[in-house]
Amino acid sequence: MSARIAFDDGLLAEDCLTAVPGVRLRRLTPADAAALAAGLNDLEVSKNLVAVPHPYGPEDAAVFLKGPAASPHMLCAGLWVDDSFAGCVAIDATAGFPELGYWLVRAHWGRGIVSAATRAIVDLAFGATRIEKIVSGHFVDNAASAAVLRKLGFKPAGVVETRSRARAEPVRLVAMNLDRETWEADRPTIETSRLVMRPPLMTDAEEIAALANDGGLPLTTAATPRVRRPEEARAFVLEALRRGFPREASFCMRLKEGGALVGGVGWREAGADEVELGYWLGADHRGVGLATEAARAALEAAFETTGAATVKACCRLINSASRGVLERCGFQWAGAGHMRAQTSGGPAPVDRFRLEREVFFSLKAWGAAAIRTGQAPGPSARRPVALG
Ligand SMILES: CC(C)(COP(=O)(O)OP(=O)(O)OC[C@H]1O[C@@H](n2cnc3c(N)ncnc32)[C@H](O)[C@@H]1OP(=O)(O)O)[C@@H](O)C(=O)NCCC(=O)NCCS
Repeated sequence: MSARIAFDDGLLAEDCLTAVPGVRLRRLTPADAAALAAGLNDLEVSKNLVAVPHPYGPEDAAVFLKGPAASPHMLCAGLWVDDSFAGCVAIDATAGFPELGYWLVRAHWGRGIVSAATRAIVDLAFGATRIEKIVSGHFVDNAASAAVLRKLGFKPAGVVETRSRARAEPVRLVAMNLDRETWEADRPTIETSRLVMRPPLMTDAEEIAALANDGGLPLTTAATPRVRRPEEARAFVLEALRRGFPREASFCMRLKEGGALVGGVGWREAGADEVELGYWLGADHRGVGLATEAARAALEAAFETTGAATVKACCRLINSASRGVLERCGFQWAGAGHMRAQTSGGPAPVDRFRLEREVFFSLKAWGAAAIRTGQAPGPSARRPVALG
């Protein structure tokens, strides 16, 4: 691996959502200098960081924003809580292995915010690049930071002596590492009898485009992504990486046997207590029940991880195969309408469907899927269910 990874400027072109509602990552701009300085000019924050002096003023923040934060070797995001600036998370690859750092203004501590924000940036970095390992560390007296790193899967790699600029004294630091293999094993995964489904990585983009462009019409639902061209597939993967599982989720469907990519399934928020399901299959894989198998498992995962009371879905009027999938999952017809289907370019007549949680679980005689989310249900889960 090259020592100096360069992060694509587009990774933070749009806000990156996290599992905690209202908490998002956003590209920093010079206009954030005053807020950054106000947050970092707190010894309770800076004494836990290596390079931040105390006191810390707007001019320090301006230098940071023009220099390190603007480097292509640094993936640096501001942390916003309900549209107020609240801290930073960054992966710095300017020297050696990419290094994760983070801080949060004191008023927000203890609400799971940094756990969600660091997971989002780690997922973005591993998902969008070929990084093999992310390193980090915490001072020996920083138990909260130790807990954040442990929950992400970081493992201790030794204790080193360093200096804290704010404390102006040497401090012992516990070095922590997270390798790609450990991260991959912890990603959300849904398994059914024939399929294994995981969120897409940038390395899947070309395969996704090739499958979606295999000659047949995609099995369109309104939530089906436009992924026929490689650049569309890359944009779709980036979008998926920025969406903040479990509130929104996208999975590549692969056959357990042989590993071939056969389609995609996912959900997105659609109002209070409701998510919308979408799915598609490559033309060669239709007609053997894979969409129903994937949709049932995704519904179970969506109900369990989001706590939604209902799932909605819609299918084009002409798409009787998709209607069959929804009906076999227990969806009830909820009216007709028009929708701008992503893949059709214009408004298309659709049938709308809805499925209530109670109906789904009472019909679920078809057997449970094995779902691993790699994280405890976030605060967004309105009815948390512990998943193994
Ligand atoms: C460390 C810091 C980033 C944590 O942010 P946060 O949003 O409060 O963290 P979270 O709420 O996501 O998680 C904190 C975890 O630490 C645990 N924790 C907090 N204080 C603790 C303590 N004194 N002892 C043990 N665990 C503690 C919490 O219980 C939680 O773990 P849990 O979810 O398993 O219960 C924040 O305190 C901060 O900015 N500190 C100053 C800067 C800093 O330390 N940066 C990291 C440098 S390595």
